[in-house]
Amino acid sequence: MAISDSGKHFSYKILFERVFDPIAIHKIIDGNITFVDVNPAYERVMKLSRDNVIGRKFHDVWPNAESKWSDIIRDCLAQNRTVHCVGESLDTGSYLEAIAFPIPTDMAAVIFLDRTKLKRSEDDRRKYQAQLRELAARLTISEEDTRRGIAEELHDRIGYDLICQLRMLRELEARNDTEILRPQIQSLIANTERIIAGNRSLIFELSPPALKEAGLNPALEELAQNILEPHGISWHVITKGSEDEYKADDSVCVLLYRMARELLINTVKHSGASAVSIIINRNHDNITVAVEDNGKGIQDSNKGFGLFSIKERLLALGGSLKIISEPGEGVMAVMTCPLKMKKGDILHDNKNTSG
Ligand SMILES: Nc1ncnc2c1ncn2[C@@H]1O[C@H](COP(=O)(O)OP(=O)(O)OP(=O)(O)O)[C@@H](O)[C@H]1O
Ligand SMILES: [Mg+2]
Repeated sequence: MAISDSGKHFSYKILFERVFDPIAIHKIIDGNITFVDVNPAYERVMKLSRDNVIGRKFHDVWPNAESKWSDIIRDCLAQNRTVHCVGESLDTGSYLEAIAFPIPTDMAAVIFLDRTKLKRSEDDRRKYQAQLRELAARLTISEEDTRRGIAEELHDRIGYDLICQLRMLRELEARNDTEILRPQIQSLIANTERIIAGNRSLIFELSPPALKEAGLNPALEELAQNILEPHGISWHVITKGSEDEYKADDSVCVLLYRMARELLINTVKHSGASAVSIIINRNHDNITVAVEDNGKGIQDSNKGFGLFSIKERLLALGGSLKIISEPGEGVMAVMTCPLKMKKGDILHDNKNTSG
């Protein structure tokens, strides 16, 4: 018996008639899911008239419907429980959540909730998030490109001029026979040597030559030495898989280098560790760089921006960051990344950045 036929259920009938969400009531007749009733909202949203659906089989009314929409009705009736599903309705183009619940006697009421707006905003949010990730990764690479450009200028122009100047001052010192000028020349030599040393460390800070010239493994060793040794933290590097055999794109190496730097700085800033291991593993598809310390472990990883930014940039490349940490047992941060950028990747078309 249809709800609309029942005087006893008058108040329910009003609800059924007036609710804004489409509701359909079904029953199994001769093994087929059959329409018993639909409300005005169903007629409006599904663009069907009530008189045209009552008594008809579900699949005759919706011949193109995916099986999940009828499965929930069958499951609901067979198991006498509420069942739901979500998806795009091919017929209406909307994104619907359907909830089928049993009603007396042996019928299933299906209420449809329109999730189209929610789904679109969720899709937009995901797209936006992916774009932000890509932007973060791209920024690191273009930043590296700029750094490398400045480092090259400092090396080729200023560094060269300083070396020439130092040579001239040394010649002057050798030829000079006046005692009055000697201390001034020596002080100029000392100053120039200091500026050359400062220039070299600036060049290193800006763009480590080892990364370009020797590859990621030696660059990470140099990095560990520069960051950890001044703080008395011992370190060693373990590698598996040869750098030549499993060659990573330059952009991947640049990103991993910058991220490893952040992890090493974290170790110095937060861990109180006395020893660090850097483990570099390569295989056909991926490169993994893990930084492990024996410090106090992470208490709260949500404080800063460093770990978050590593995670987001790795996700943009199809990689991941895994943090393993127990209080008092140190931290192991594992960065995994594909060796190669995907074809057509946003990072790939910036040819000058890979260096
Ligand atoms: N190796 C580590 N040992 C102990 N705690 C750590 C370690 N690395 C990170 N942490 C904890 O995780 C938090 C988040 O690290 P994250 O790098 O994201 O931020 P930060 O270093 O505090 O600031 P930022 O990197 O933005 O300058 C840190 O504040 C610290 O509490
Ligand atoms: Mg940090």
